[in-house]
Amino acid sequence: MIFNFGSINVDHVYRVADMPLPGETLTAGSYRKLLGGKGINQSIAIARAGQMPVHVGAVGSDDHWTIAQVKSFGIDTGHIAQSAHPTGHAVIYVDDTGENQIVIYGGANRDLQPAQIDTAFKAHGAGDHWVLVQNETNLLVEIVDRAKASGFKVAYSAAPFVADTVAGLINKIDILAVNEIEAQEAAGLLGVDVSSIAVPELLVTRGSQGVEFYSHGEMHHHPAFQVDAVDTTGAGDTFLGSFLAHHCQGADIARSLRYASAASALQVTRPGAAVAIPAREEVETFLKQRKT
Ligand code: RIB
Repeated sequence: MIFNFGSINVDHVYRVADMPLPGETLTAGSYRKLLGGKGINQSIAIARAGQMPVHVGAVGSDDHWTIAQVKSFGIDTGHIAQSAHPTGHAVIYVDDTGENQIVIYGGANRDLQPAQIDTAFKAHGAGDHWVLVQNETNLLVEIVDRAKASGFKVAYSAAPFVADTVAGLINKIDILAVNEIEAQEAAGLLGVDVSSIAVPELLVTRGSQGVEFYSHGEMHHHPAFQVDAVDTTGAGDTFLGSFLAHHCQGADIARSLRYASAASALQVTRPGAAVAIPAREEVETFLKQRKT
């Protein structure tokens, strides 16, 4: 079982020809309101890969749209609290190359309550559980400490990068997941090379350059599948969720990396974050068609 204490956002997505420069006003080519947030994107990727996670989070108390969206992806909303703060949201620009710029407002994501940790853990009993956290919610230290005290393993997506939080968690976690920019930031913070970051397992996603996974001193690499990307928003979340769904069940590392590479390759060929995450059958079909 994977417990994901994760952010839930409303993504306001604007397609633009080019990113706005400082002081510039642009007209968007289109606008969409979509479910997003690194946490819920990762939960949906885990679910679509075949492992239903327990998602723990919070949205604004009057926000029925977001709860309905989460349910529509098959995620149970029993551990999603109602907050006096508005649901978190993201303003996202996606340009013609598929690249994005994102500004997030935390809102209810920063209002998780300590009681939610115990309630979630007690509801699902002891076991070989994993806990997943990102930097878009509050309570990270409390969640990780409670997880370790319960004998669970912890995966930490250090995004967006927050140096103090990374420094406080680095010695407690089992997997650190970062993109290439976050990897450099973490290495700089710790004063080591990326490959020497002292965690049991380290996942570094490098976009079109593929992925590196360091496991107990051994490095595994998987190249990216070549596709025509239209929107890279949520690709890293798709990779991490898809990878954890396999790795936390004890699947072979090469198989886990290959599945996650295919899932994220498919995801970037479609617009949106959560809505673009492929189902397991689509990923298996894609893999049968590709040799690498
Ligand atoms: O990683 C992509 C996500 O980052 C978006 O869905 C947005 O909500 C932000 O959290």
